[in-house]
Amino acid sequence: MKRLAGKNALITGAARGIGFAFAQAYAREGAQVAVADIDRAGADRAAEAIGPAAVAVAMDVTDQASIDAAVDTTVDRLGRIDILINNAAVFTAAPVAEITRADYRHAFDVNVAGTLFTLQAVARHMIARGGGGKIINMASQAGRRGEPLVAVYCASKAAVISLTQSAGLNLIAHGINVNAISPGVVDGAHWDGVDAVFAALEGKAPGQKKQEVAAGVPHGRMGRAEDLVGMAVFLASTEADYIVAQTYNVDGGQWMS
Ligand SMILES: NC(=O)c1ccc[n+]([C@@H]2O[C@H](COP(=O)([O-])OP(=O)(O)OC[C@H]3O[C@@H](n4cnc5c(N)ncnc54)[C@H](O)[C@@H]3O)[C@@H](O)[C@H]2O)c1
Repeated sequence: MKRLAGKNALITGAARGIGFAFAQAYAREGAQVAVADIDRAGADRAAEAIGPAAVAVAMDVTDQASIDAAVDTTVDRLGRIDILINNAAVFTAAPVAEITRADYRHAFDVNVAGTLFTLQAVARHMIARGGGGKIINMASQAGRRGEPLVAVYCASKAAVISLTQSAGLNLIAHGINVNAISPGVVDGAHWDGVDAVFAALEGKAPGQKKQEVAAGVPHGRMGRAEDLVGMAVFLASTEADYIVAQTYNVDGGQWMS
């Protein structure tokens, strides 16, 4: 029995990386998936790769009209939304003395406001149609503690953990489970970018930062997007009905809480 048979999911930032792996896994588990991304061409490619279970949706989570349109389009195309994964995010790093308001605003607009107002739009839909739902936010080990060069991103992910707690407590009254996944270091295009940022900030050779973080993972390697899909399927399934407002570490043993 497929664990998400008959369910419809909206996944933000699903054109690549972890969100794309989630979309593939949800389709394998029997769900229909809206692959939403600011990168429309990437979303088209991702949906095409998944096949008939997927539709591509253009969405900028920093723009309320775009959030509302993406929710409407998903409901039009799939019929209803049972599962939301707030996965879209941007990374930024700088010494504290060099953080700019523009960087701060953009990171908080995508990572925090994008998560909150997408969650709100989908929660309104779920409340109106009744029957509850599942909402999964993508946090990070960066939200568990600060890092010297990553103040803004870390703070944004700490905010995602906090929003998960408050929204989880509020929305369970409507049968909507809100929980979060906290990955550690997951290889892919995102970490190629992080590696390049640290190469510039710390004078490291390309690939050096990845080697260093991999060496610090108790499991012994960086994560892969596929390492996260088990938790994403579980939290979207009926097996997680009694789980409320939690953030789960899926990080090879990096953080304990
Ligand atoms: N990769 C890691 O090591 C890691 C670790 C911890 C947490 N995470 C979190 O997991 C999630 C996915 O990470 P990833 O590595 O796949 O990242 P990624 O950068 O590969 O993918 C992010 C996606 O979000 C999209 N996006 C960016 N801004 C958007 C916007 N305004 N509206 C809609 N879409 C937008 C991008 O186009 C991209 O497709 C993120 O929330 C990230 O913070 C990743």
